[in-house]
Amino acid sequence: MKKSKISLDTDFVRSQFPAFQAEESRDWIFFENAGGAYVPATVIERLKRFFVAHKVQPYGSFALSRTAGEEMDESYRAITELLHAEADEVTLGPSTTLNFYVLAQGLRHLLNPGDEIVVTNQDHEANVGVWRRLSEFGAVIREWRVQKETGELDLSDFESLIGDRTKLVCCTLCSNVVGTHNDIGTVAELAHQAGALVVADGVSYAPHVIPDVHKLGVDFYGYSTYKTFGTHQGVLWGSRGALQQVKAQGHFFNQSESRYRLNPTGPQHAEIAALAGITEYFDALYRHHFGASSEDRHDRARKVFALVAEHEATLANRLLGYLKERPDLQLLGQDHAEPGGRASTVAFCAANISSAKIERELAERGIGVGSGNFYAHRCIEALGIDPNDGVVRVSMVHYNTEEEVDQLLSALDEILEKA
Ligand SMILES: Cc1ncc(COP(=O)(O)O)c(C=O)c1O
Repeated sequence: MKKSKISLDTDFVRSQFPAFQAEESRDWIFFENAGGAYVPATVIERLKRFFVAHKVQPYGSFALSRTAGEEMDESYRAITELLHAEADEVTLGPSTTLNFYVLAQGLRHLLNPGDEIVVTNQDHEANVGVWRRLSEFGAVIREWRVQKETGELDLSDFESLIGDRTKLVCCTLCSNVVGTHNDIGTVAELAHQAGALVVADGVSYAPHVIPDVHKLGVDFYGYSTYKTFGTHQGVLWGSRGALQQVKAQGHFFNQSESRYRLNPTGPQHAEIAALAGITEYFDALYRHHFGASSEDRHDRARKVFALVAEHEATLANRLLGYLKERPDLQLLGQDHAEPGGRASTVAFCAANISSAKIERELAERGIGVGSGNFYAHRCIEALGIDPNDGVVRVSMVHYNTEEEVDQLLSALDEILEKA
């Protein structure tokens, strides 16, 4: 007998998120997840518990303080295991933008005048501006540019940019407007052959894929937990070898402390303590779909995210199928989603109506999307789109449903017909 295929149970998924039950939010169709996703009850409960029961300086000797520290430690462990990382490879800082800023300061000493840094014009500015600024110290910036028709990056263009002087390559795993998963493994291989370090922005990738960080091939990987169903934090992973090359940026007495070396602000206690709620939620999804398991946390999450990838591709294809048939729309990136090949982050603009107006009209119909350039200013501009109005971005995650996409399509039909 053929084994029935397991698919993601979105009713169960949504039952884990209080936002789908709360009076203020339950009737909204929420498609602005790339700006920050809803959080499951497991995260909210941990955050509340920390604030209610032990909102004290952690790691002291009194019981409340010890518990506060233990809850933070649990989250460090949860994120480390989720990524298949080593404990001393993970920094939890206030945001990816700040983590990359600090990292750039820590890597600056490796650069001599004339050394080159490759940045893209596809990335969010968080993984561009901090590197470009190193030109003030003599670094030469080389820009890997997107293809004008699609917004995608072509590897042959990259090959022509790297050479003996390349010291850093800074590239996104997935643009927050184009959505294509870049072939970061090949980028890293070519960069390493040239002797360069690779900084990969995973902010738009992490809500859709759980990577084994050592297998990505890169030296540094950053993403933001407020977009992956948690509190507002940035995760910065670096391989041990790469981290050894970074100058510590924390206080002098914390230089050997892996959690503090690249986090001069110090850890944000409650926000970190709540992060274990993310893996607790993934585990609940695992148990619901697959039952009990002796697999490790990373493998369990990956199995869940295989279901997520299938579901998100279905959502994306429903929307892409509609958008690509409309001659009045310009679609960014690929017009078809294969699981693992394209994120369910879909951006477009219209010939006859501004992106801001489409956003407003959708909001009037109870559908929350974003519009603008999403700090991918250079990418939007390179595509010939006015970065002030930008694109409409529909960013879907695993708790979104096909019915919600259908409602969006009906609303778009109405809005575009009268434009
Ligand atoms: C692709 C991408 N990279 C980086 C960032 C910056 O992340 P953070 O808000 O944590 O600084 C964002 C935020 O929207 C993003 O979408």
